[in-house]
Amino acid sequence: MLKGTIKIVSAAINGRGIASLAALPETHQMLQKTCRDFAEGELKPVAAKIDRVHLYPKDQIKKMGELGLMAIATPEKYGGTGLDYLAYAIALEEVSRGCASTGVIMSVNNSLYLGPIMYWGNEEQKQKYIIPFTGGDRVGSFALSEPGNGSDAGAASTTAKFDSNNYFLNGTKSWITNGYESEASVVMATTDKSLKHKGISSFIVPKPIDGLELGKKEDKLGIRGSSTCNLIFDNCKIPKENLLGEPGSGFKIAMMTLDAGRIGIAAQALGIAQASLEVAVDYASKRLAFGKPLIKLQTIQNKLADMALQLEAARLLTWRAAWLKDNQKPYTKEAAMGKLAASEAATFLSHQCIQILGGMGYVSDMPAERHYRDARITEIYEGTSEIQRLVIAGNLLKEMGAQ
Ligand code: CAA
Repeated sequence: MLKGTIKIVSAAINGRGIASLAALPETHQMLQKTCRDFAEGELKPVAAKIDRVHLYPKDQIKKMGELGLMAIATPEKYGGTGLDYLAYAIALEEVSRGCASTGVIMSVNNSLYLGPIMYWGNEEQKQKYIIPFTGGDRVGSFALSEPGNGSDAGAASTTAKFDSNNYFLNGTKSWITNGYESEASVVMATTDKSLKHKGISSFIVPKPIDGLELGKKEDKLGIRGSSTCNLIFDNCKIPKENLLGEPGSGFKIAMMTLDAGRIGIAAQALGIAQASLEVAVDYASKRLAFGKPLIKLQTIQNKLADMALQLEAARLLTWRAAWLKDNQKPYTKEAAMGKLAASEAATFLSHQCIQILGGMGYVSDMPAERHYRDARITEIYEGTSEIQRLVIAGNLLKEMGAQ
């Protein structure tokens, strides 16, 4: 059911809808319209400023919380909207089409923070760390990477030492999206490094807390409205009640959380790609060359066809991964495929968009260069394109009995 606070807008969305949406349930179509309307009115007009001044979109996140977008797949019982992952993918694409920085803030709260607590948390943890994080007043974060390990996530060296009913965390987690604003974080740390990935546990760490400092805010190429920083732990005392799941299950929690998170980043990439396509078509319709609008030139039509093809293929792969998750089927490989295809589509479409705009694509008067910069990170975080290929190949070989 749609959360009561999601406003159903009856106004027809502007003419650039997504054709394949017509085959989706009415709930999802209404959600898409609501999110597009929100993005048109509240995100697109401020996206350039958010990027330029590195502005965290606090007011917009609050409004998104009121619309139910900060906890889409969280059950209503815990303050969420109670929709599925397909709805999440659709909503996140629309938000990211308006502002990719806002998209990643929404994605991390939904899938990387609320997701694991909902799945592995006990009732007390859900009451304390889910309900207050659903309405847009508070956001959460997820801390897996470290200065010395990114793709090799099992090599964590942040330690958690158990002593008198508490864990003491020491070490640095890096590249933490929402690092500055988050008021709690799901943190992976090892209780026994000799056990490799089996020594890693997950902890819910409230912020601020003694023994936890934030590193500098990273100055990034894109998604500049979201904050990214290190979390630096120095004997940070965490009560044992904040252990998430079983001791030693942290790596599995991280991997399964990232499976879901990758659907979110795929959706963010789709939004950037869709926005790039729209900018390109709009410009090519108005700009004259060789006595006619650019869209009449076959060279440009070829580009637009390739752009639409990559975008729509990636969207279907992303929706398939969401659909499998919603139906409790394995979806690790499919989520990796969706993320890989969508992030490479975002890179390709934003590149082609600049190519079509020429000089106008290279200056900040137009959003094309921002889409190009925002696209780049989707091939890096929540697993690089190279890691997605490893995940796809590993699962493929297993399925085909070739291991
Ligand atoms: N679901 C459940 N279990 C899984 C799993 C999955 N998707 N993937 C692996 N596992 C399990 C395996 O079954 C295995 O279990 P056993 O020990 O019981 O046999 C265990 O985990 C180890 O598996 P692997 O040997 O395959 O692990 P690996 O060390 O070779 O690593 C990897 C695999 C795919 C490379 C993984 O390390 C990985 O995904 N790396 C990328 C990390 C990443 O995406 N980081 C993003 C940081 S978060 C971020 O960007 C957030 C942000 O702020 C936006």
